[in-house]
Amino acid sequence: MEAQSREAWGTKLGFILAAVGSAVGLGNMWRFPYAVSDKGGAAFVILYIVMVIVVGVPIMLSEFAVGRRARLSPIGALRETGGPRWMTLGYLYVLTGVVILAYYSVIAGWAMRYTLEALLSGFSTEPGQYFERSSTGVGAALYHIVFMGITISIVVGGVKAGIERVSLVLMPVLFLLVVGLAIYAATLGGAGAGYSFYLRPRLGHFFSASTLAAAASQAFFSLSLGMGAMLTYASYLKRDENLPGSAAAISFSDFGVAFVGGLVVFPVIFAFGLQGEIGASPLGALFISVPRAFVEMGAAGRVVGLMFFTALLVGALTSAISLLEVVTSSLIDHWKLDRTRAALGAGLVILFVGLPCAYDLNVLGLFDAVAGEFFLGVGAFFLALLVGWRAPEVADEVRRGFSREALIRGWLWVVRVVVPIILAVVIYDRGKNVLQTIQSLIAGP
Ligand code: PHE
Repeated sequence: MEAQSREAWGTKLGFILAAVGSAVGLGNMWRFPYAVSDKGGAAFVILYIVMVIVVGVPIMLSEFAVGRRARLSPIGALRETGGPRWMTLGYLYVLTGVVILAYYSVIAGWAMRYTLEALLSGFSTEPGQYFERSSTGVGAALYHIVFMGITISIVVGGVKAGIERVSLVLMPVLFLLVVGLAIYAATLGGAGAGYSFYLRPRLGHFFSASTLAAAASQAFFSLSLGMGAMLTYASYLKRDENLPGSAAAISFSDFGVAFVGGLVVFPVIFAFGLQGEIGASPLGALFISVPRAFVEMGAAGRVVGLMFFTALLVGALTSAISLLEVVTSSLIDHWKLDRTRAALGAGLVILFVGLPCAYDLNVLGLFDAVAGEFFLGVGAFFLALLVGWRAPEVADEVRRGFSREALIRGWLWVVRVVVPIILAVVIYDRGKNVLQTIQSLIAGP
């Protein structure tokens, strides 16, 4: 019914870049380097690649197939695919979108503040104190509000005139910035120690369940999986594209940006001997030790820092757009609002839900643990059950535009067996982490 009036992408490249825009964001340049340094460097990088291939690409393909087949946003698409009971999963997706964007926008607000700082006055020479002062409070709340305002205004513009147009411009800019930064980082004396930490595996970290869970949940977060963002974007596709090819290209691009991001962050931090600081403050690592290195660089640091935070901000914006689009499109399809009201209403609710994060980093950390890790794992787990067991006819959607039957069968098998097993470990481990986070919140510092 909606099929006729439904919005659609203008070009295939538009869809790919919008999906890459959703994937590439804070997850690549803020969370990935932190996860790498926390979980033992290069060993984690290898495990991460395995998780992207084994669970990331298959789940992305599942979301694409379900979304394009139903041509509806998550709640309706899951009902069409699995029956009315599966709408619950759609509601979880919408809730996840609300909670992730609520804190994501606060961090994006920091990136915006640092970008302006680089442009107007240069970075503070006391980045630790500066972060402490600026990451919470009225200033943080105001940047969060401005960032939400920009996000809302793009989503109001619609799929083609808003999201696609912005992605076509911003994504190439982001690629150029990140590659330029990596080339610059290679010229720093002392960069070698950073490369060695990042790229030379030390065994021993490899096989723990919690490292595996961390790698898998980093993959979901970074690839925007488990909450219907890719499902929603695929629902705006016309029927002829090659879905496996797109899933592979998007996942590879996302990994590429995270990997090259590491080629920026690690040499920069190690060149100035700041590696000890990463572990001290997970949330702030990127906003403290990286700017400190920029200060040490002198005049060049301001330009390099401007490039770095602009890239971070651009990545965050195109990701935030996709988070808001999940909620907005659900309001349009399911609650029959027009786009302007839907985007504004959803955006305002998210803005308010995010305010506590702008005042208390513990709340921000809790939101991330609950929605950014646990809910994404749960969301992807049930999607795998749906596609693998309840509605394997979804595979017919993959067959449109792709004819390698053996690969399709292999994908279905992975979704049916391998993905649920790995995700069960993720849900258990990340669920435990949520409980610990809550306990330590109650117990106080
Ligand atoms: N993938 C985005 C990032 O890496 C975050 C995101 C998660 C976006 C889930 C949409 C959905 O920053």
